[in-house]
Amino acid sequence: TSNLQVSINDINFNNPVLNAAGVRCQSTTELDAILASTAGGAVTKSATLQPRNGNETPRMQSLPFGSINSMGLPNYGFDYYLDYVINQQIAGNQNLILSIAGLSIAENLTMLRQIQASDYQGLVELNLSCPNVAGKSQVGYDFEAVADILAAAFTFFDGHLGLKLPPYFDLNQFDELSAILNQYPLTYVNSINSIGNGLAVDLDTETVVIKPKAGFGGIGGDYVKPTALANIRAFRLRLNPAIKIIGTGGISSGQDVFEHILCGADLVQIGTAFGPEGTPIFERVTDELETIMVAKGYRSLADFRGKLKII
Ligand code: DOR
Repeated sequence: TSNLQVSINDINFNNPVLNAAGVRCQSTTELDAILASTAGGAVTKSATLQPRNGNETPRMQSLPFGSINSMGLPNYGFDYYLDYVINQQIAGNQNLILSIAGLSIAENLTMLRQIQASDYQGLVELNLSCPNVAGKSQVGYDFEAVADILAAAFTFFDGHLGLKLPPYFDLNQFDELSAILNQYPLTYVNSINSIGNGLAVDLDTETVVIKPKAGFGGIGGDYVKPTALANIRAFRLRLNPAIKIIGTGGISSGQDVFEHILCGADLVQIGTAFGPEGTPIFERVTDELETIMVAKGYRSLADFRGKLKII
């Protein structure tokens, strides 16, 4: 049998397949269901300091090859998720990621200070890439702001910090951002969040398909896989080896997981496809991954991680 284990800074995952922040992970019931499944671990809905209802509905729609969403960070507030991951830690579960998405740099630093002062010792994912709060731009596209927040955070934070990044499309962006990220003891980067501010049209009604932001929303699913793979590959070629990579974007099969890992991902996360399929998706894609590994004679993920060949 294949060894699917992954460890990130001594935090162990039985297999590399997790949910992506945002999908079926807002309530403790949903999070419990992920942990009770064969998923390698669970990520919490990105938290803001205060609870939020999010944007007006309809705010998510399936599309022929994926999804569009403008949820607007509906969540039960930072304390709810911090309590949950601490309780899981007490129960012996370390395979969690606490996601935070403050509405300002100050709010992010406030949450990081509270995590630092708490008993939580697991992974923290700072979401710098939410495209869906009207009037707030995606911090991940402002490299000065990214540099400022990392400089401020690492004056006091000594936990395991990862960044959820938006997709980049110009190779100079990878050069510039990697030069900044390599200056800090980051644990990982997670690429990609949805491709922000896409638009879908309903032919019959000649309207947009979601209500917030006049129909603009983040695109996920099959549409985004080539962009996700490129971001993983581009960062893996530039980041310090100590900075791990979580691959997110367009995963719905074992082949997709294999491709993400081949491009350099240590863990992967499933967003769009997890919505309709639910927790059985984790066992299915993990089985499919193992089948591919067996056929290729690979016994562990390290046998092919990052080993994409060029022609
Ligand atoms: O696509 C996304 N939707 N990415 C995020 O980071 C947040 C989420 C939402 O709540 O709008």
